Amino acid sequence: MKRVFVNGYGSIGSRIAQFIADDQDIEVAGIGKHSPDEKVTDAISRGFKVYVPKNKVASFKNFNISGTIEDIISDCDLVIDASPGGAGYANKKTLYEPKNTRAIFQGGEKITGEESVAQLIFNSRVNYEKTFDRQFVMQGSCNVTGMGRIIQPLKEKYGKKIKRLDAILIRRWADLEDSKTEVKDSIEWSHKPHHDEDVKSYMGADTPLFIRAFKVPTRQMHVHSMDIRFDGSAPNAAEIISIYKNEYGVATLYSAKGTKDIRDYAESIKFSFKDTNMIHLHADLIEVQDDVVKLTYSDDQTGIVVPENHLLMQAMLFKRKKEDAFRHTEELFHMAEKKRMLEEHFRRQ
Ligand SMILES: NC(=O)c1ccc[n+]([C@@H]2O[C@H](COP(=O)([O-])OP(=O)(O)OC[C@H]3O[C@@H](n4cnc5c(N)ncnc54)[C@H](OP(=O)(O)O)[C@@H]3O)[C@@H](O)[C@H]2O)c1
Repeated sequence: MKRVFVNGYGSIGSRIAQFIADDQDIEVAGIGKHSPDEKVTDAISRGFKVYVPKNKVASFKNFNISGTIEDIISDCDLVIDASPGGAGYANKKTLYEPKNTRAIFQGGEKITGEESVAQLIFNSRVNYEKTFDRQFVMQGSCNVTGMGRIIQPLKEKYGKKIKRLDAILIRRWADLEDSKTEVKDSIEWSHKPHHDEDVKSYMGADTPLFIRAFKVPTRQMHVHSMDIRFDGSAPNAAEIISIYKNEYGVATLYSAKGTKDIRDYAESIKFSFKDTNMIHLHADLIEVQDDVVKLTYSDDQTGIVVPENHLLMQAMLFKRKKEDAFRHTEELFHMAEKKRMLEEHFRRQ
């Protein structure tokens, strides 16, 4: 039985801990908290042991904590770090490297420059086996993971026939349960969004991807608008849709009005955390003009990386065969059933 510690219990860490707790092959050693707030009680009520930084123990005196993060790091096989972007690098330096512990980092970290956490970004569709013997691997961010699910099948089918992929990322401002962040009435842009470099790091530097990113005042998912330019005539819409028919984690929808529509449906049928864990290809918006296919899809920001973390965990801990890992993840996440239900509900009218 392998022991996994989830360091950070926010939007992503709480989801990961909750899902992997049902995995019979591992034991969740506990979760890491930094602030003495109601989420400590939440974690304990769900059966998780809570560990806190040594220098903050006193501020948790009103809670039944189980020990320090410093100590539990030495007593687990893998850490899934789900700390805020940038804190993962500090944790690597002060905790994981000194104690020679293996770790998965999340997409708010970097894989280049002085503060890089790992040399590899994981995408289960692209480089599952490459993670087997690594000490540190970074799970791509939600946007980066979503682009992999869309682009890799296109790349496999059309290869060099694709001349350019121009994507505009319309990003949500904050997560549903993030009560600390005010959603400002503004549209903000990113200079040199990291997504471009991150996707190319695992898909190849020659991927002809060009990204612009804007943050908009919503908590309900991201939307990507991608123009795919072909060398010669573009394939028709039906052919593009058929590529994703059996694609893991991509649901093809025809009648969703917007991202909240999808989230509301997920809530109505009691998907955990109101997440779909999917990319939603909006088939009603596909347009083909001469050499260009215009594709629009939405990306469940909080849900999409959680099954990916579970797949990555299996690769790093067990070097499990890819098909077996997907089968096991399916037992916990029911992705095929979610896809079927979403496609049925948002079918062509
Ligand atoms: N939110 C998303 O949709 C999303 C999607 C994909 C990837 N990601 C990435 O996932 C990571 C976590 O994001 P999040 O949205 O889950 O953040 P979050 O909701 O702000 O949660 C962060 C958690 O980390 C804890 N924490 C604070 N400092 C820490 C430290 N030094 N070491 C360990 N834990 C620490 C916080 O504890 P306290 O609450 O106790 O202070 C909190 O539980 C980021 O890299 C982010 O870019 C996020």
